[in-house]
Amino acid sequence: TAPAPGVTLLVNGTRHHLAIGPEVTLLDALRERLNLTGAKKGCDLGQCGACTVILDGKRVNSCLVLAARAQDRPITTIEGLAADGRLHPLQQAFITHDAFQCGYCTPGQIMSGVALIEEGRGHDEAEIRKHMSGNLCRCGAYANIIAAIREAAART
Ligand code: FES
Repeated sequence: TAPAPGVTLLVNGTRHHLAIGPEVTLLDALRERLNLTGAKKGCDLGQCGACTVILDGKRVNSCLVLAARAQDRPITTIEGLAADGRLHPLQQAFITHDAFQCGYCTPGQIMSGVALIEEGRGHDEAEIRKHMSGNLCRCGAYANIIAAIREAAART
């Protein structure tokens, strides 16, 4: 028999088959079909970074990626970061450094920061500022966000 129409997503290690059309964005698939609402819809235009997830080891604005394009490729969302009941070191560092105020941009900041640390760019303030520039924070918590990333980078 022919495979069921739709898209298969591999999210945080679990495979999901979704009966969605080719026009659905990864962000909408995560939020509205899988109830993974950590990734936020800030602008839906690729300008704020609130929807950042990691796809194939690279950060992407999930509002700009069609779910069909992400088919069968590993996706990590903020919900998949903590393991064995422990926060990821960057999640813990955000708490330690008070790196959020309203919290709306935080999941995107953390996902972007995790990828940046894995890229080996988490040690230098100028590098962090440059490579986190796609993640906006309206509360202006940037200094604390940078401190959190530096600390987590030093530990990993
Ligand atoms: Fe995707 Fe703003 S919601 S970049």
